[in-house]
Amino acid sequence: MINDKRILEKLREEPCYKSPDIAVVLGSGLGSLADGNDSQSISYSGISGFPQPTVAGHGGKIVFAEFGGNNIMMFQGRFHFYEGYAMDVVTLFPRLVAALGAKLYLVTNAAGGVNKEFHPGDLMVISDHLNLMGTNPLIGKNRDEMGPRFPDMTHAYDPEFSQLLTECGRDAGVEMKKGVYAALTGPSYETPAEIRMLRTMGADAIGMSTVPEVITARHAGLKVCGVSCITNLAAGVTDQPLSHAEVLETGERVKYDFIKIISSFLEKVSV
Ligand code: HPA
Repeated sequence: MINDKRILEKLREEPCYKSPDIAVVLGSGLGSLADGNDSQSISYSGISGFPQPTVAGHGGKIVFAEFGGNNIMMFQGRFHFYEGYAMDVVTLFPRLVAALGAKLYLVTNAAGGVNKEFHPGDLMVISDHLNLMGTNPLIGKNRDEMGPRFPDMTHAYDPEFSQLLTECGRDAGVEMKKGVYAALTGPSYETPAEIRMLRTMGADAIGMSTVPEVITARHAGLKVCGVSCITNLAAGVTDQPLSHAEVLETGERVKYDFIKIISSFLEKVSV
């Protein structure tokens, strides 16, 4: 069981620590937003008790930055259920930032395009999700100090913040897509039959992360918004095999648009 209190104490002692208004989680291949601010960073390995990521493309550091008067706490690299971490590790970030006083939790991730209109390199504002991980991070005794036993998920992804993300895309010359993110545990990619099933269920994009964090963030009263980078077409949409290398390559290709859009959002947003 992870010791949140101890990690919070350690974070607050860091010289670069500033109490966050907004938390940003950077997904596979999307970590470069945090790269300009290295002097303000702490590596996960430097925080005693902090878990360590195991996936290529996840740097493993926390970066503190300021955008338009907002204090931002960025996590470069997340913890996935498929890595074998327990749900309390997978959902550590939202619990930490809620305790530190953040108001908004911005998620980013790499995802496969299930919607046939999507292309690799598209950015999708997440309008809703399908939790298909077969579990829920809130199972167990409710932590009443964090939030209610049965949290409402009607507006899991805040409509106003989502609209601002779309507008920031437009200002950057990018017509962002909008859609439903479905999460399976992975780590195997899906079969073509699973992708057909997901499409029937209303999914536009498929990934292996984010949903447990969002459930935990909403439980803790954080507002949430998110962007998926469609790094590849999901299995069976084309004959091409899927690879993590393609996921990282597409992330690299869109990173300038991605940085521009997320930076301008963080500058404009008021929480
Ligand atoms: N499936 C699941 N997760 C993913 C994919 C995919 O096609 N692409 C990036 N993350």
